[in-house]
Amino acid sequence: MAEKIIFDTDPGIDDALALLLLAAAPELDLMAITVTHGNTSQDKCLSNALKLVELLGIEQVPVARGAQEPLVKELSVAEETHGDGGLGYAVLPEAKLKPVNESAHDLIIRLVNENPNQITLLCVGPMTNIALALLKKPEIAKKVKRIVAMGGSIHYPGNSTPQSEYNVFCDPESYEIVVNAGIDFTLVPLDVTYQCLLTNQHIDQITHARPEIKSFIKESTRFYIEFHAEYQGIQGCAINDPLAAAILIDPTLVENRDYFISVDLSGGPSKAKTIADHYGALKKAPNARVSMAVDVDRFMKLFIERMNRLN
Ligand code: BDR
Ligand code: CA
Repeated sequence: MAEKIIFDTDPGIDDALALLLLAAAPELDLMAITVTHGNTSQDKCLSNALKLVELLGIEQVPVARGAQEPLVKELSVAEETHGDGGLGYAVLPEAKLKPVNESAHDLIIRLVNENPNQITLLCVGPMTNIALALLKKPEIAKKVKRIVAMGGSIHYPGNSTPQSEYNVFCDPESYEIVVNAGIDFTLVPLDVTYQCLLTNQHIDQITHARPEIKSFIKESTRFYIEFHAEYQGIQGCAINDPLAAAILIDPTLVENRDYFISVDLSGGPSKAKTIADHYGALKKAPNARVSMAVDVDRFMKLFIERMNRLN
């Protein structure tokens, strides 16, 4: 039976590519899309999610509006990375589709209660929606099957501060709540995602997708590739969020290690760093399975093959 997924996201270019991958994955049953602030404002992320759902023709999937801002810190956006609208140079038609009336965190609570121990939360943005659900109904922690999250950096440098990764940086307090909720938790950090660089050579292999989808991939990643070159000296763009989605399709793409991880909330220069207790110094049981190695070639092949199915 297909695995039931709630996709919590802040689209965002690589978020959009992750949604494309989910739409090309019969192994997964996409139950809902819950949208958070993150790469751009909540309003723009929501509008992007609705446009993408229409592009993909998956209007049966409910889209819910989520948190407008983080739990504690001020709102951040990353428009230098994802463009003013959040989808790079891609321009999609305004969506006719509307979000459902339920808030993201209420929808998560309801679906988890209706499907106990069956739902995987795939989280590829700041964790505010999940933290709000857990703060409102802590008992749902026992009914979530697992969380797979793109976020954090263990050995790899941060992409937001010298030490912190963007999704954790945006709402570190929420991340710390979710990591410690006692839910089976897999973290897919920059250590692995920054090895997965999508280049124009890869994009040229996406020949079978519908023209509108091909053009969306080309125009959104054109911006993202320019960002990586200009700000990080990297050739190609890191497709962070699609890797987290891909391990739901094929878990053997990554090698994981169990760690006790915590988020630095102390307010100093390492604020929002994800800290892994490598040698068990804290004598705490692991609270996360962390992807530390990835088969880049197999992942890229899977990604391209699935994009070609979107026809
Ligand atoms: C993460 O931050 C966002 O910019 C991306 O969408 C991804 O989820 C990478 O640090
Ligand atoms: Ca994201």
